[in-house]
Amino acid sequence: MDIPKKVKLVEVGPRDGLQNEAAQVPTAVKVELVNRLADAGLPVVEATAFVSPKWVPQMADSAQVMAGIRRRPGVSYPVLVPNRKGLDAAIAAGAEEVVVFGAATESFSRRNTNCSIAEGLARFSEVCDEALKRGLRARGDVSVCLGCPYEGEVKPEAVVRVARELYAVGCYEITVCDTIGVGTPGTTRAVLEAVAGHVPIEKLAGHFHDTYGQALANIYAALECGVTTFDSSVAGLGGCPYAPGATGNVATEDVLYMLNGLGIETGVDMGKLIAAGQYICDILGRPTHSKAALALAARARARQLELEL
Ligand code: HMG
Ligand code: MG
Repeated sequence: MDIPKKVKLVEVGPRDGLQNEAAQVPTAVKVELVNRLADAGLPVVEATAFVSPKWVPQMADSAQVMAGIRRRPGVSYPVLVPNRKGLDAAIAAGAEEVVVFGAATESFSRRNTNCSIAEGLARFSEVCDEALKRGLRARGDVSVCLGCPYEGEVKPEAVVRVARELYAVGCYEITVCDTIGVGTPGTTRAVLEAVAGHVPIEKLAGHFHDTYGQALANIYAALECGVTTFDSSVAGLGGCPYAPGATGNVATEDVLYMLNGLGIETGVDMGKLIAAGQYICDILGRPTHSKAALALAARARARQLELEL
């Protein structure tokens, strides 16, 4: 089976990762992390979220983050917005791309955004309409596509309904998200094939949390389906505050290691990426969740020792 020769990696660590940290991360650290990730060659760095600070206090400094980052030409810095208020604040902060986020189940929609799927879609329609009018781009995330922490199994048709709606209101890309990391290559393939019947496959992206260690296998399955855009999180940071037990997104370093091994071009520099992961892990005071980063660091240490002997 053919797999793509080029992949776009969307770094979500500064948002999906840091939204889930118990400790408040200083704004300057967030800014530095975003800058380092862009400098590592990531073409898209999801920078922050313009959501209610009552719901996610970790993202309360979104305007300051946007004001602080150095915008590298050619790099996009999308931000999450749940409603019109978020869009207006994102525009005021100079965002050029927004991400609306719906869910495939009613329970998750309510827990995450305090509204039904239909109410959420109505908000996103307004947000996308206004964003597009103002010259911004809009991306659409669909949560719990492979399983829901509240409802369990999710039927591909439920994902299709939300995905096609987000595409219809103007999202240029639809991200199929495994919020709690329960998917396997078989269920990943099934949902992507179902959605691809309504949204062109080249407009689909994958977002796989690695809770059950399936994310790389799911990405490979998605590559075989023709998906060429994947979200990932440096050092495997993250989770969703409204998805209990879910661990971080697949580590960007691990995805890059696999793609490099497959000869797939991404434009991302592994050394700089690992350094960015090390930077944030040192500040958070815990080890990376990336196996590739750990292994490559151990190899580098062994080489250094050999040189010193
Ligand atoms: P609500 O309580 O129903 O909203 O929340 P409301 O309209 O009644 O407003 C309540 C208060 O929030 C008001 O303030 C509003 O002004 C304020 P008050 O008058 O009480 O002082 N407010 C806002 N403030 C700043 N920015 C805004 C905003 N909107 C209202 N945009 C709402 C509804 C959608 C706002 C809330 O539920 C919310 O913010 N939810 C976001 C939750 C979230 O960020 N979850 C994590 C991101 S999603 C995720 O991680 C999944 C993903 O990674 C994909 C995957 O893995 O599945 C993307
Ligand atoms: Mg997520």
